[in-house]
Amino acid sequence: MTGKFGALLARRTAWGRSDAISRILAAANAPGVLSMAGGIPAPDSFPVARLAAAAEQVLSRSATAALQYAPAEGITAMREAVAVRAGETGAAVSPERVIVTSGSQQGLDLLARTLIEEGDQVALDDPSYLGAVQVFRRAGARLLPLPTDRDGMRVDVLEHRLAVGARPKLVYVVPHFHNPTGGVLSEERRRLLAGLAERYGFLVVEDDPYGDLAFCGGRLPSTDVHSDRVIRLMSLSKTLCPGLRVAGLTAPDGLIGELVATKQSSDLQTNTFGQYVLAELFADPSFLPAHLARLRVLYGDKARATAGLLRERLPWLTFDEPRGGLFFWCTVDDPLVTSEPLYERALAEGVAIVPGAPFCIGEDGSRLLRLSFATLDEEQRREGVARLATAFEKARADVH
Ligand SMILES: Cc1ncc(COP(=O)(O)O)c(C=O)c1O
Repeated sequence: MTGKFGALLARRTAWGRSDAISRILAAANAPGVLSMAGGIPAPDSFPVARLAAAAEQVLSRSATAALQYAPAEGITAMREAVAVRAGETGAAVSPERVIVTSGSQQGLDLLARTLIEEGDQVALDDPSYLGAVQVFRRAGARLLPLPTDRDGMRVDVLEHRLAVGARPKLVYVVPHFHNPTGGVLSEERRRLLAGLAERYGFLVVEDDPYGDLAFCGGRLPSTDVHSDRVIRLMSLSKTLCPGLRVAGLTAPDGLIGELVATKQSSDLQTNTFGQYVLAELFADPSFLPAHLARLRVLYGDKARATAGLLRERLPWLTFDEPRGGLFFWCTVDDPLVTSEPLYERALAEGVAIVPGAPFCIGEDGSRLLRLSFATLDEEQRREGVARLATAFEKARADVH
């Protein structure tokens, strides 16, 4: 521990320390930089007019309640709305089994703080979402990284690891359009995972911000149709907006009270006004289906256009075309260039990408990188890809 206050810091502040997320966000916000880095929703994806109308309604009809403290578990209307959504995409859930959290990131933190003791095992895909890796590491977890492919986590490998003695408390999955790999956990693997949870007593954490963003076809039912040992994190950040910090969490009966107690000690409650506004939007049953249909077209078109551009301008990059979500997960297919120097060169040219290594736990991420197609408009995207092409040539020249 270094610095003036080093001796005062709790030991856990050294665990899971990563500047990768702040580096990505800082790069995305730097003046003049075109960002293909963060999972930042497209500016025209936000339902601004509907949010304005809902805010107006809330302030004219329920201002006092909407500006007041509210229960730690969330306001009734929002818990009911989350329960309805959960039931549409998985097992039926009563509103009593819902907590409204300040984003799914807080859901992850509540789970880690409620369930993980130093040395407990958490199994997860390798690579995995950086924010989850950081939370679990900071809670003192030992990570059990598992291989992952187009059909999501290799649950057969988990089964083998369990058979030879691994005992994770939590198994963390991103079931649709995984961040960063884009994988979708297949129905067969969901069934197997639920069976293993029953047999070995662990909990499955399904973190699903991207399930509503399938470009063709629908989403698969949650693992909770096969087992009640499933906790669902239902972010609204990629489908409505991240700024309100309102998300849903569903958990089995026996865990809700403990999670609410942790939530209370963390921030008392989630933003009341945001909950009222979103509950007002959800009260119109036609709103969400129409809004999500628009987003699927918006992002599907962006993904196809970006794939075309990447193939045309960056032949040294290989990738599977995304089936949903916000990202391309790519391999740099050139013996001379790896993703970290490319990232540095790209930033110098004015385009931000994310090198693969920070997502990887044991895997070699040195040739991998993540590109978001979500944020930029068509002209910016063309320019961003052109800058990336220049950055690649310069990174290659650096090696000679
Ligand atoms: C897999 C995953 N989980 C959680 C989050 C954070 O979601 P929220 O904004 O609801 O906290 C993200 C954001 O990128 C994500 O990709």
